[in-house]
Amino acid sequence: MTKKLHIKTYGCQMNVYDSDRMAELLAPLGYGLTDTPEGADLVILNTCHIREKAAEKVYSDLGRIRPHKAAKEKQGERMIVAVAGCVAQAEGAEIVNRAPMVDMVFGPQTYHRLPEMVAKAARAAGQPVLDTGFPVEDKFDRLPEARPGTGAVTAFLTVQEGCDKFCTFCVVPYTRGAEFSRPVARILAEARHLAANGVREVTLLGQNVNAYHGEGPDGREWGLGRLIRAVAEVEGIDRIRYTTSHPRDVDQELINAHRDIPALMPYLHLPVQSGSDRVLEAMNRKHTADDYRRIVDRLRDARPDLALTSDFIVGFPGESDMDFAETIRLVTDIGYAGSFSFKYSERPGTPAAAMGQQVDARVKSERLSSLQQLLESQQAAFNAATRGTILPVLFEKRGRRDRQIVGRSPYLQPVHVDLPPDQAAGLDAHIGQIVDCRITEAAGHSLFAEIECSGQPRPLAVDPDERISA
Ligand code: 5AD
Ligand code: SF4
Repeated sequence: MTKKLHIKTYGCQMNVYDSDRMAELLAPLGYGLTDTPEGADLVILNTCHIREKAAEKVYSDLGRIRPHKAAKEKQGERMIVAVAGCVAQAEGAEIVNRAPMVDMVFGPQTYHRLPEMVAKAARAAGQPVLDTGFPVEDKFDRLPEARPGTGAVTAFLTVQEGCDKFCTFCVVPYTRGAEFSRPVARILAEARHLAANGVREVTLLGQNVNAYHGEGPDGREWGLGRLIRAVAEVEGIDRIRYTTSHPRDVDQELINAHRDIPALMPYLHLPVQSGSDRVLEAMNRKHTADDYRRIVDRLRDARPDLALTSDFIVGFPGESDMDFAETIRLVTDIGYAGSFSFKYSERPGTPAAAMGQQVDARVKSERLSSLQQLLESQQAAFNAATRGTILPVLFEKRGRRDRQIVGRSPYLQPVHVDLPPDQAAGLDAHIGQIVDCRITEAAGHSLFAEIECSGQPRPLAVDPDERISA
């Protein structure tokens, strides 16, 4: 009989990748995924510690799971509850003290041992299993090959993990550990495997992805630019993205990759956090606002249609009105197509948490809302500017409406197309295709489009004849 596994994923894309790998590891033990914790045999919360709110959510979710666990026990069965990810790594045994219902606690670097942990937890009810070390073995060597979800046309591919940058606000260097790059050959094998299963777009993942320095097939260290060139040659992979990058690690090779490789999408998440040199220094970002402007200029020279997104923190300790005004000035100068912005959140154990001059909560809220207003207007303008243009859209799935399909533009904008009735029969055949579409409307964060009449689906590496629409 299959056992039921429920995984809830919080936070970043790396956690999404990790949760998929956990499901794959557990499948041979008879675990099949279910959408709710109700009745599950194993519940895994794959958590995020980046900001206080994200971390606290875990405890409220545990509270919601408790009655389901009790109900299962009433029937004489067990529900194993596991806390994984970065909260597990940071808080370890404290979690079990605070929530004794938790049976397993394990960090991002040990989940390849999940089958053993589950066996242990199943044998010893009431004795929580803890595994939050940083093992010497390569986790990736022990993981099964990535299996894209059926019909998935996009996939994440972890190439690098951990961070050595130690920005003073950030927990990642502590929860994910030191920088580690997977060897090129392993990454290419995973990319080929994904392509063979119908994936056409990969997003190369890393906490600091452009610090990538993996071993190449020639025995030398390869940077991200070189890796991207090799991934672009994988048959069937037509779109490449990478995230999250650090301005300090944008080198010429990476800039050249943006210039030379059409498969590398002209859309880059390059967090700057603040526009004030004083704050950037206190954050230990190791660059100035002008350094960032220069990097963006070089990238745009190489790829003029490049659109940028960023992360911002407002209310970092000591941030004055003048500092904040510098952030507004930088945003105005650069012009972003999208962004994420946050109030500074004090994280235990990080240097910034011990700094004086913490900024008042009300001031943080005011700054956040004025920054977000500006960023949202930039994003709306960026989306509106696509109206009337033709963009290649990678179709991913059916839309909510009948005869509707949804895909993504090169700029990750969701694009909705309502097929005319005479083409509706070919709807599924569009999925996995990159098709030129004329944008007719920009509403909120979505675009609406028509398939460009002259636009035939572009050739596909896998099963070409079967998937071209009628
Ligand atoms: N407070 C607020 N935002 C933070 N981030 C990371 N740490 C903190 C913190 N302590 C934000 C940064 C980072 C993004 C992933 O989360 O902007 O780029
Ligand atoms: Fe955190 Fe990114 Fe700074 Fe690394 S580079 S410490 S992950 S914010």
